[in-house]
Amino acid sequence: MKKIAVFASGSGSNFQAIGVAVQSGILNAEICLLVCDKPGAFVVDRAEMLGISSLVINPKWFRSKEAYETKILQKLTSLDVELVVLAGYMRLIGSTLLKAFEGRIVNIHPSLLPAFPGKDAIGQALAAGVERTGVTIHYVDEGMDTGPVIASSAVAIDVGETRESLHKKIQQIEHSLYPEVLEQLLNGKEEAVQWEKSVH
Ligand code: GAR
Repeated sequence: MKKIAVFASGSGSNFQAIGVAVQSGILNAEICLLVCDKPGAFVVDRAEMLGISSLVINPKWFRSKEAYETKILQKLTSLDVELVVLAGYMRLIGSTLLKAFEGRIVNIHPSLLPAFPGKDAIGQALAAGVERTGVTIHYVDEGMDTGPVIASSAVAIDVGETRESLHKKIQQIEHSLYPEVLEQLLNGKEEAVQWEKSVH
């Protein structure tokens, strides 16, 4: 079974959806670690409830981003983690982790990339007055939400849509799309070939 680590900074509803997918057999993988950069974030409670161990680590405790990521990397290596899954991790991945996990870090973002990268993608879409937005899952590179797209799903923005209603629609899609895509990436037939290519 492939080993994954999930990185998250906040509420962790995507982390939970992935955890539940593992428990119910939809996703054939082992979540061996949650990495959380925000002590006190609710995602850490969720990990405890799911019986998943967590590394809570604040970048401010380190003299540099490199030192911070080296600490995380040591833990990932000791656990033989094969794929890093960003799920609401609100920080750019630096060169230490990128080099070590080249082609093996994925992210979920609440817009149809390349539209509305960065923070508050839902607010950006509402402010732009567009009729649709969505969810994108992509490989991570050194840019802000710029890596190659793996999958995306559109969401209509209806008349009178509020931030809350749009957030709800987007999260509903995220919670089913992310486990599905992870299963394809880790265990899918066709995708396994691409996966092998990206690893070597
Ligand atoms: C998710 O909607 C995810 O797409 C977004 O943060 C939210 C985390 O929610 N990520 C980004 O905006 C990354 N740029 P969660 O903590 O409930 O899973």
